[in-house]
Amino acid sequence: MATLFTPLKLRGTEFKNRIFVSPMCQYSSRDGLPTEWHLVHLGSRAVGGAALVMAEATAVSPEGRISPRDSGLWSDAHAEAFAPITRFVKEQGSIPGIQLAHAGRKASTPPPWEKASGRFVRPEDGGWTPLAPSSIPFDAGYPDPREMTSRDIRLVAQQFSEAAARALNAGFEVIELHFAHGYLVHEFLSPLSNRREDAYGGSFENRARLSIEIVRAVRKTWPERLPLFVRLSATDWVGGGWDLDESVVLALSLKTLGADLIDCSSGALVPHAKIPAGPGYQVPFAEAIRERAGIPTAAVGFITDPVQAETILATGQADAVFLAREMLRNPYWPLEAAKTLGVDVPWPRQYERAKL
Ligand SMILES: Cc1cc2nc3c(=O)[nH]c(=O)nc-3n(C[C@H](O)[C@H](O)[C@H](O)COP(=O)(O)O)c2cc1C
Repeated sequence: MATLFTPLKLRGTEFKNRIFVSPMCQYSSRDGLPTEWHLVHLGSRAVGGAALVMAEATAVSPEGRISPRDSGLWSDAHAEAFAPITRFVKEQGSIPGIQLAHAGRKASTPPPWEKASGRFVRPEDGGWTPLAPSSIPFDAGYPDPREMTSRDIRLVAQQFSEAAARALNAGFEVIELHFAHGYLVHEFLSPLSNRREDAYGGSFENRARLSIEIVRAVRKTWPERLPLFVRLSATDWVGGGWDLDESVVLALSLKTLGADLIDCSSGALVPHAKIPAGPGYQVPFAEAIRERAGIPTAAVGFITDPVQAETILATGQADAVFLAREMLRNPYWPLEAAKTLGVDVPWPRQYERAKL
């Protein structure tokens, strides 16, 4: 049996295979509420046979959105709007997950297809002033973010915890905390974006403090029986930035606090990093964190081929794979991968006459 189709158990949850749909912003929400687009987008990938369908970076507060069109989970109405989506995903035998996020200094930007209008949505156009550990903009054309007070920081940890409670009410069974890609928590982790001189800046322990507080706060509202994932950028790909060694130490702490899997991505903290992107280029991070921190990991990035995915898992480099763009090209990738690897998996009844 191919490892890719061997079930994975984390806490009380069994994933029917190790193919996970990576979180992908759709910029199709209204006031943070998911729309029919999300039902079809996430639902199609559940029909396609992925074990876990992870909803996009979903903001824990309105100002934590990357764009005004992002999803949010800052009120009960948001949880209600997600409920039909999680119900549908579960009916297909997939596990619905959601990535909880705060965009930090990269907030209030337009959806990619509106980037011609500039890199920042101004308050007069429905945007807002972003928050960050220090008042350092991401890049030219981005605003100076407002440096967060200690009260702001405490509030963010609480917002993550409340959003986790709403995710449960919405029917999600996995939460992934977005601590990667240059968004708020990553900005605290990296010395390149965090120049604070209080308890949240300077030493590794201080830079990691917010991430630890969030995991603690989320574990208070997220049930013991359900898995908690954390997405890290394992390196900034820049000298003097956050790196793999720090990621390993952080992963060790997060594990003791109740994180169950580290989703190993990289980069996006600063615009000028030179990233050797290519097939499987982030897999070594998943392998190193898995081995050195002793926690399950997922690999992500340019994973497109069933044999490639199988090799990553069979050689013990990761416990699962997240696919993003390949899943946009082909939502039925898992069903086709099973055929390629010689595994017989059930197809949706409605599609059986097309089974390969
Ligand atoms: C349309 C799109 C939206 C994305 N949105 C998110 C997101 O919400 N959260 C996140 O952590 N990564 C996001 N990503 C990154 C993907 O999850 C993934 O890490 C990245 O695309 C590399 O995987 P791939 O080579 O399989 O596409 C996004 C990627 C794409 C293509």
